[in-house]
Amino acid sequence: MKSVLFATKSLEQLTQEADSDTSGLKRVLGPWHLIFLGVGAIVGAGIFVITGHAAAQYAGPAVTLSFMLAGVTCAFAGLCYAEFASLIPIAGSAYTYAYSTLGELIAWIIGWDLILEYSLGATTVAIGWSGYVVSFLKDIGVDFPASLAAAPYSFNPQTGAWTKTGAVLNLPAAFIIALVAYILVRGIKESATVNSVIVFLKIGIILIFIGAGLFFIKPALWKPFIPPNQGQFGFFGLSGVLRGAGVMFFAYLGFDAVSTAAQEAKNPKRDMPIGILGSLFACTAIYIAFSLVLTGVVHYTQLDVPAPVAVAIDAMRLFWLSPLVKIAAIIGLMSVMMVQLMGQPRIFYTMAKDGLLPPAAARVHPKYGTPHVTTIVTAVFVAIAAAMLPIGIVGELVSIGTLFAFVIVCGGVLVLRYTRPDIPRPFKTPLVPFVPVMGILSCFYLMSGLPKDTWFRLLAWMGIGLVIYFTYGIRKSKLRRKT
Ligand code: ALA
Repeated sequence: MKSVLFATKSLEQLTQEADSDTSGLKRVLGPWHLIFLGVGAIVGAGIFVITGHAAAQYAGPAVTLSFMLAGVTCAFAGLCYAEFASLIPIAGSAYTYAYSTLGELIAWIIGWDLILEYSLGATTVAIGWSGYVVSFLKDIGVDFPASLAAAPYSFNPQTGAWTKTGAVLNLPAAFIIALVAYILVRGIKESATVNSVIVFLKIGIILIFIGAGLFFIKPALWKPFIPPNQGQFGFFGLSGVLRGAGVMFFAYLGFDAVSTAAQEAKNPKRDMPIGILGSLFACTAIYIAFSLVLTGVVHYTQLDVPAPVAVAIDAMRLFWLSPLVKIAAIIGLMSVMMVQLMGQPRIFYTMAKDGLLPPAAARVHPKYGTPHVTTIVTAVFVAIAAAMLPIGIVGELVSIGTLFAFVIVCGGVLVLRYTRPDIPRPFKTPLVPFVPVMGILSCFYLMSGLPKDTWFRLLAWMGIGLVIYFTYGIRKSKLRRKT
């Protein structure tokens, strides 16, 4: 039994699979392409929605410091992710990386955990999208019924109480998931040009918001910059900054998209760190400026709403800017959901190929060539979650789950350096063991700031995963049959 749990797929085998999977990919991406790719996948509901929640509930104006803390953590984790991605350039995920280094059990744990990053990530963005759509419709005179635009219950993190909102479900959030899933099943890919246009649009509008906002900042709103703690860990004060960082970690997700493009980078050794650190740096700078403006224009207590940027714009009385920001958010968030909902079925697909999930999950559509079964199953669950759950709960669960995945990735880099020093690494994480160790510690540090409830949800989720593995995966695993 022990040998099965820790059996690893051989790297040679993975590289072979990667070659057959990625042959045909051309090395065309330079450093700027990679930075663009990263920024496009990163900027989404985190900045457009969750910043307001984190400022209002946990950190106040110091959410800016939370962004810095989360950005540094991502830099450590990103550098480790990139080594794995360049080593096993299969249209990558941490699941595959773990399978080759830490064994099947850990691979399963990470694959199961990644459902939180991808599926619940898409859920979170869909809820954010819904907020902006409803707000935009209102601007053009369409009153979308409130009872169909929110989850039936909201959660107060301070009291731990669930309260009825009076709404039945969040229909736009479920709708957008169905639409994105349809596009993905049909195999319609966003072209590089469309991606660039979307990146320009969302970054452009954020820069306009920041530029315009500078004229309306009331420095008094930043005082005190770190509001005093309210007696409970995580609610303002330094612990609030830490919790804010855990929550805002969500806003950086997507930078792993850069690592997975290692196979297409012209010069991965030089350009991967530039792409990862460059996009993280660009996003951190944007996030800091953005959050300073947001909390400098409106009191942070007013920002826990579905479309916080709209509140700030109303306070500035720049009514022409409001629809532009909303359109940019609506289009920009769609592209983030595309990335997430495309990633999830691919992970399920790989897990099914390995025998850890039922073979149906590895089925590919005869006409469109897409993993339609997993895409549709994923979309059904994600749409239900998006319709029924409040954004704060889901976003925090995504953050903690992904932080946990990154802990394993950083650990994997360390393990592999000792167990397989011989294999050629197109990109090497610099300053090993410092960077991976800092990655592990900083991810744990951010996790430690997240609420107890979020930890329980993570543990419950992982518990369900283990039950499935020990009742199904372990018996069906292809690797086990070979050993
Ligand atoms: N970083 C992505 C977002 O903020 C997931 O929407």
